[in-house]
Amino acid sequence: TVRQPRAADLLAWYDRHRRVLPWRALPGEQADPYRVWASEIMLQQTTITAVKPYFERFMARFPTVDALAQAPSESVMQAWAGLGYYSRARNLHACAKVVAGQHGGRFPDTEEGLRELPGIGAYTAGAVAAIAFDRPAAAVDGNVERVMTRLFAIEEEMPGAKPLVRERVLALMPSRPGDFAQALMDLGATICTPRSPACGLCPWREPCRARIAGTQETYPRKAAK
Ligand code: ADE
Repeated sequence: TVRQPRAADLLAWYDRHRRVLPWRALPGEQADPYRVWASEIMLQQTTITAVKPYFERFMARFPTVDALAQAPSESVMQAWAGLGYYSRARNLHACAKVVAGQHGGRFPDTEEGLRELPGIGAYTAGAVAAIAFDRPAAAVDGNVERVMTRLFAIEEEMPGAKPLVRERVLALMPSRPGDFAQALMDLGATICTPRSPACGLCPWREPCRARIAGTQETYPRKAAK
């Protein structure tokens, strides 16, 4: 019989290997919701390497959600120039105005509240709720889909399997939801990669059903195009 995966094993791995990123809180500190939110919007269609310098410049120029809300749109678009997908910048500015104008400059601290803001979908609401507020929310992106479909050998095709992946993440939820969310992302980005995953280094190698069967690279299953 296969052992059940434990979140504690992933968190122990994360404590040793966590990537230092400008929007991440130091261990034991609470992250700034504004920085978490802005980073998640930037990371939606752009790699971490490309985002980092933009993020630092953006935060120097607009240090708070109020500062961003009050800035003219030309200056926001100028700070975004180069990141692409400019509707993200327009939504970002619109969202800052709602948070500053209708929420006293504080982001809602629940998934449901976050979902009502411009440009915030299921993924971003889950990520901000978990990372900035330590809510037991699932943030399922492509990396997390790959990790979870392999771990549990989920045969259903994407995107249909999304609700199953979510359920599995929620069922494993430990007492450190923000670290858990980012540990899943880091595992998918650095170990559980699309090709040639480094299973020997994975904290979940023993319970991973795909590794046991030798079928890692066949997940997530996708409909033939
Ligand atoms: N990709 C999207 N959000 C991320 C985060 N907070 N950490 C690492 N990778 C990410």
